[in-house]
Amino acid sequence: MATEQELIEKATAMLERSYSPYSHFPVGAALECEDGAVFTGCNIENASYGLTICAERTAAFKAVSEGHRKFKRIVIAGRCDDYCWPCGACRQVLYEFGPNMEVICLNKNGEAARMSLQELLPHGVDAIWLGT
Ligand code: THU
Repeated sequence: MATEQELIEKATAMLERSYSPYSHFPVGAALECEDGAVFTGCNIENASYGLTICAERTAAFKAVSEGHRKFKRIVIAGRCDDYCWPCGACRQVLYEFGPNMEVICLNKNGEAARMSLQELLPHGVDAIWLGT
């Protein structure tokens, strides 16, 4: 199992991998799964702006595509004054695989704010909601 500090370091290191020439807003993420596996991600932008993918979803899709479907916590790093909270789309994607996970958001000084995904996304869409 990774320590929170290790996850913070991994998420922060991913800021260097961010491909964000349009927004100049780098984001890094480190996602820990219930089985202890850790997947990192960064935002990847595109000249066709709408094709951009956020750091959180990069990490989530890496995890699921490698067979890890239970998320425990994610650390999200940015270089902004505020904490780097996940966007709405990423909240819903994370909810699919970790409705009770913890979300730890960093600001540019490395200070952390913590919230459960339930707090960030009350009434997220899930299989029960769909009736499937
Ligand atoms: N971004 C993320 O990577 N995660 C978020 O939760 C918010 C936004 C990225 C997308 C885009 O590349 C840049 O930040 C500005 O929106």
